[in-house]
Amino acid sequence: MATLTNRQVRLARRPDGFPKPTDFRLASDPVAPLQGGQLLVRVVFLSVDPYMRGRMSDAKSYVPPVPLDGVMCGYGVGMVVETKHPGFRVGGYVVGDFGWQEYAASDGQGLRAINPDAAPLTMALGVLGHTGLTAYFGLLRVGEAKAGQTVVVSGAAGAVGSVVGQLAKIKGCTVVGSAGTDAKVEHLTGELGFDAAFNYKTCGDVTATLRELAPAGVDVYFDNVGGAFTDAVIPLLNVHARVTVCGQISQYNLATPEPGPRWLHQLIVKRARFEGMLISDFVPHFPDALRELTGWYRAGRLKGTEQVAPGGIEAAPAAFIGMLNGRNLGKQLVQISDA
Ligand SMILES: NC(=O)c1ccc[n+]([C@@H]2O[C@H](COP(=O)([O-])OP(=O)(O)OC[C@H]3O[C@@H](n4cnc5c(N)ncnc54)[C@H](OP(=O)(O)O)[C@@H]3O)[C@@H](O)[C@H]2O)c1
Repeated sequence: MATLTNRQVRLARRPDGFPKPTDFRLASDPVAPLQGGQLLVRVVFLSVDPYMRGRMSDAKSYVPPVPLDGVMCGYGVGMVVETKHPGFRVGGYVVGDFGWQEYAASDGQGLRAINPDAAPLTMALGVLGHTGLTAYFGLLRVGEAKAGQTVVVSGAAGAVGSVVGQLAKIKGCTVVGSAGTDAKVEHLTGELGFDAAFNYKTCGDVTATLRELAPAGVDVYFDNVGGAFTDAVIPLLNVHARVTVCGQISQYNLATPEPGPRWLHQLIVKRARFEGMLISDFVPHFPDALRELTGWYRAGRLKGTEQVAPGGIEAAPAAFIGMLNGRNLGKQLVQISDA
């Protein structure tokens, strides 16, 4: 095979507050010859996700940060273009942590083969991938949502939130979502079957709005955003409510943490449970959950909302920054090459 050039997006500097295009730099390297046991993947779609903001920082977290001048981390779907690995064939599609680059060599660890005839390739990064799995385990295992209960989800029109609401409906719950534009709110109630939704930026008083939209109180709060929004949900928790702390995106770009009101006493009054979740803790249960999610998807009960940025690898920084700014509806992807 002729030597291929691999264009990559590397971390140029650690962001100070909100990430900027100049925090990234485009680089290119020749693709190294494969070692025995490796395969080479041409990335077709890249997912850009909020957790990447954490990896750009060197604050201590659950995984080490991207090193300075390292290739940005990120899951993608790609095609196997060369293989010295017995488990993968040329022309097959795989999903894995390939990073922000056009080609990735892999020893096969952590890769999942996907069938392009079962669902569009992009679904493996959305409802039928980590996004759907986060919603599934966060709502059903951590949140223990049950039929007849009320679920509130913040960041509801995003990748995870839009699946949380649909799963809550499948399970017979009443679901209320919040999002940052009126068009997103309409999508939630019109397309995705949410019982109610509201624009948290224009509603004024979040607690009063929720009291009206969720008159029976909140049994499960699926928290994607944290901050003042979450503070406003706390007074509405029912006795034995569960709060799945999935994400805190309102806090990710702050230089100094926001002081908040003290509401821990509410956990006593309501005998409520807050639990942080990390999707990687559920890996052994992925196959069963994916089977169930695929069943709902194929039955038309679960829709995958996504937005694909064109423009190849150089479009990744803008797509990522746009997602942090709320410009995405559903899963934000970048098309890196043709399928
Ligand atoms: N714990 C885990 O294992 C795990 C796994 C996956 C994701 N997550 C977390 O889940 C959350 C959602 O992730 P995702 O991939 O589905 O992203 P996403 O919701 O598709 O995209 C991020 C969205 O966050 C909203 N947002 C941005 N700034 C905000 C603010 N200050 N206040 C309220 N909303 C804000 C924007 O929508 P609006 O227009 O509505 O503002 C934006 O579209 C993130 O916090 C992420 O870190 C956690």
